Amino acid sequence: MSVAGKRVLLIIGGGIAAYKSLELIREISRRGGAVRCILTKAGAEFVTPLSVGSLSGDTVYSDLFSLTDEAAMGHIELSRSADLVVAAPATADLMAKMAQGLANDLATTALLATDKRILIAPAMNVRMWEHPATRRNLATLRTDGVSVVGPDEGEMACGEYGFGRMAEPKSIADAIDALLAPGPALLALGNNTSTRQGIASMGPLAGKSVLVTSGPTLEPIDPVRFLSNRSSGKQGHALAASAAQLGATVTLVSGPVALPDPPGVTTIHVETAQEMLAAVETALPADLAIFCAAVADWRVAGESSQKLKKSAAAPPTLSLVQNPDILATIARLKAGRPQLVVGFAAETENVIEYARDKLRRKGCDLIIANDVGSGTGVMGGDENAVHIVSPDSVVSLPRLPKTEIANRLIRLFTDRLVKGPSA
Ligand SMILES: Cc1cc2nc3c(=O)[nH]c(=O)nc-3n(C[C@H](O)[C@H](O)[C@H](O)COP(=O)(O)O)c2cc1C
Repeated sequence: MSVAGKRVLLIIGGGIAAYKSLELIREISRRGGAVRCILTKAGAEFVTPLSVGSLSGDTVYSDLFSLTDEAAMGHIELSRSADLVVAAPATADLMAKMAQGLANDLATTALLATDKRILIAPAMNVRMWEHPATRRNLATLRTDGVSVVGPDEGEMACGEYGFGRMAEPKSIADAIDALLAPGPALLALGNNTSTRQGIASMGPLAGKSVLVTSGPTLEPIDPVRFLSNRSSGKQGHALAASAAQLGATVTLVSGPVALPDPPGVTTIHVETAQEMLAAVETALPADLAIFCAAVADWRVAGESSQKLKKSAAAPPTLSLVQNPDILATIARLKAGRPQLVVGFAAETENVIEYARDKLRRKGCDLIIANDVGSGTGVMGGDENAVHIVSPDSVVSLPRLPKTEIANRLIRLFTDRLVKGPSA
């Protein structure tokens, strides 16, 4: 275990999930690490200094202006005495203060004064997590090099369902191990971590944020039926994983797929095109946006709230309405447009001609065109052959595994981000 023999400064914020931090202290100790804790004023409403101190076997620090604490261990020394600083639960409030650089209590002062890496495990109500202010703060923190583990999706203490549950103590301890491991953090994370993780690492895309959409969308007809398509998400997920391996902070917005979330990537799960657009807008800003999802062009007008009955005299007639055009919406943003906007075009005929037309209509920088006609095996398969269509050129890649296509495309996008359209 990489945490063995190392010291972790654990900041426990004021959220219901603080009880899980007690288990986290035990998990770090089990792995051979030492834990020293700062309990915020709000954190002490949820767990007692006695429990925290008993489990950590150390003094619990809470007060910036405590004469005794400051004499024994000054706040600057406290922030630097550890090998890693972990905030769990990281409340919305704590994240906002960190993003602003505030230092108005012991926890925030230590976070600002530390010269060590910081890992946060956010925990909050799903609406708080999805709020644009929290998304902005998260993006700022990632840009500042803060690593993030979780949150997980699930039922919350408040009864709502969604993203916001703090990652499980074992997953946080895995992320701690990964960050304290020698070499790039992402490699140490491996593929078997269950939580969504964004571990900042080194690489040509370090400091860049990348947004990827993947998979199909699913447009309900009634509570049990839907319209969708055969997209598997394999190409989009491979792109997200590849960008993360090159050090980018990656958000993947995925429709329903049967794939695991890529390691080191924050994955947002959606179903409909409208949800996908909302998630994409929430995930911005990004330096690079890749729209690989097969978004349904239409949805059913007036989705039935009850299951349509077969017994009706005639089969129902579905009338369709146009879905939002996610690629064009983002490519034509006046403010906050990603530096490089890439769209995918799945066609069954006239592939390059249609791709050139799509490039003009959508206002994006590149179209990656692929032939998904029957017999190609591309839709749902493991291989792809693509044409990279820009306003003045077409470069074709041969048939390759989707992972290799992803690696080559991400390298090309990286060059374009750094050198501009000439790359
Ligand atoms: C019962 C209760 C539960 C709370 N749970 C959370 C939570 O899970 N996440 C969060 O961000 N804030 C939560 N809050 C609000 C925070 O406690 C509040 O924003 C506080 O100022 C956070 O302070 P801190 O960041 O210094 O720990 C909760 C408040 C109450 C009363």
